[in-house]
Amino acid sequence: MGRDVIIACDFSTKKAVMDFLDKFKEEKPFVKIGMELYYAEGPEIVREIKARGHKIFLDLKLHDIPNTVKKSMSVLSRLDVDMTNLHAAGTIAMMEAAIEGLTREDGTRPMLIAVTQLTSTSEDRMKNELLINAPIDETVMHYAKNAKIAGLDGVVCSPLEAGKVHDTCGKDFVTVTPGVRFADGEVGDQVRVMTPEQAKKIGSDYIVVGRPITAAEDPVAAYRRCVKEFVDYKGEI
Ligand code: C5P
Repeated sequence: MGRDVIIACDFSTKKAVMDFLDKFKEEKPFVKIGMELYYAEGPEIVREIKARGHKIFLDLKLHDIPNTVKKSMSVLSRLDVDMTNLHAAGTIAMMEAAIEGLTREDGTRPMLIAVTQLTSTSEDRMKNELLINAPIDETVMHYAKNAKIAGLDGVVCSPLEAGKVHDTCGKDFVTVTPGVRFADGEVGDQVRVMTPEQAKKIGSDYIVVGRPITAAEDPVAAYRRCVKEFVDYKGEI
């Protein structure tokens, strides 16, 4: 497993995403396809981007009864993506079923990671609406442990939690972290952000970067800057 930058391709049409990817002449970035693009264009968009040589993180966050998740994962596995995900809140049984469905006949499968508590859910709402009384970071670590017990490869989490997830679940348990911003960039609607260098220092394995690259004047240069800071940087941070 190598550290890498994943570009969140949050576009709603095939044309927009292809125009964006056409800018990359020399490198083939790892890309994240989320619900917006998948629901707009269907599985064909995954096949087309894969055929261009990109690695794909299919971010559909499955959460349903184990049998439905197992069968859906088996369909997604045939799309030959490299990474996909689900909600840890679906229980260990659901996560185990997902792995079964995702595993191909030859024993290979895409990486499977779990969403713990969405960063948009505050501790207040967790307590009052969901009746979960533990502190939010305890809930995140507990969900991460469940994901590990179920045999998953890692979790999506805030870069601020990546170090603790590694302490709790081991250094090989993968952390995929959004909420990354350049030190001199716009924060937008993200609240708790980190720079690529800080994310590296704290132990993120993959950073998911959207607007700092997709909305940049020169997306290729912004991508290269991210790779330089997150993957190649060797100096004092
Ligand atoms: O544009 P930006 O860099 O904020 O994009 C971050 C990506 O990561 C988006 O696709 C967003 O949906 C996703 N994400 C997030 N926070 C989470 C989970 C996913 O920002 N907790």
